[in-house]
Amino acid sequence: MTVKVRAPGRVNIIGEHTDYNDGFVLPFAIDRYVEVEVGPSKKFVLTSKLYNQTVEVEKNQRRGTWTDYVMGVVWALEQAGYRVEPFEMQIDSTLPTGSGLSSSAALEVASAVAIVKMMNHKIEPKDLVQVCVKAEREFVGVRCGVMDQFTAVFAKKDHAILLDTMTMDYEYVPLNLNNYEFVLIDSNVKHELASSEYNKRRTECEAILKALNKRSFREITEKDLAALGLTLRKRARHVLSENERVLKTVNALKEGRLLLAGCFLYESHASLRDLYEVSCDEVDFIVGFLKGRAGVLGARIVGGGFGGSVLALLRKGYTEFSFEELDMEYRKFFNRSIKVLRVNSSDGVLFSHLISSEFESAT
Ligand code: GLA
Repeated sequence: MTVKVRAPGRVNIIGEHTDYNDGFVLPFAIDRYVEVEVGPSKKFVLTSKLYNQTVEVEKNQRRGTWTDYVMGVVWALEQAGYRVEPFEMQIDSTLPTGSGLSSSAALEVASAVAIVKMMNHKIEPKDLVQVCVKAEREFVGVRCGVMDQFTAVFAKKDHAILLDTMTMDYEYVPLNLNNYEFVLIDSNVKHELASSEYNKRRTECEAILKALNKRSFREITEKDLAALGLTLRKRARHVLSENERVLKTVNALKEGRLLLAGCFLYESHASLRDLYEVSCDEVDFIVGFLKGRAGVLGARIVGGGFGGSVLALLRKGYTEFSFEELDMEYRKFFNRSIKVLRVNSSDGVLFSHLISSEFESAT
């Protein structure tokens, strides 16, 4: 029996670099997917259509490439007590990699669901998220938060999810954008540096807790920050202000005040650029180009940073600029092109009809 499963990428409206600091995030899943097809085999044989590669891998073998996401899931499933027998897997994707849209979590979640189905196991959705997070943190080696894997599992079409990463409580927030839409502009700067810099930010955040003798960022107030050195103070100020912006954005969306929500996007970008220092010139250029133009309510870098995409809240069918114009200006400065991605919200594996009955019965 072969099993086919797809899991979506995600866009985070706001709440960046807060999910490993007990903070709030507001992502939604997009209609771009990683799809895997799995069937029993004598050995682990993985094929990526994107890389045009077929690779035979041993259990627990880290190769430092895309296969680690799948074999990391195998490892994490076994660590959690789910037996995994060898399989062949075909991977296909409509989700660009390195664009800040969480293709790694989509691959992990699609693989985990497919393997669980193939093996006839049952797993709770929350445990599925934890397995995939563990795979990425401990096998791949990126000490990520829970947002991406959580979204690929729990997302619901036409909604964003307000997730409190401290308690794991969540609420679906309807995405009523009226005449506006979210558009992604890929800077085409692949965030290759991201994992080392990402882990560095995490270490800095741990240093903040230690210096202030706190167990959680939720115990820190603006007053405490004076005790920190400049770099740590900037990082902490980003996290505190970003958490506030998430909650304010949720209220603005609920009240239909999109202009206000757009302002929070710009503020978030400035904070990620100046305080958390995870942006780059190319992305700043795109946000700078958009800012203040008619039909643009807000824009900011999305995902881990150091490249990737800009999320813009734009008026449908009318903006004061054209993407051709932006592309031309961008090419003049950086000698590369932007890519515009129009996306819709989508269901995570929990609500999509592609999940197995075994998986459904566990929910
Ligand atoms: C990456 C990580 C997430 C999150 C974002 C930044 O996408 O996988 O857990 O930390 O960066 O908000």
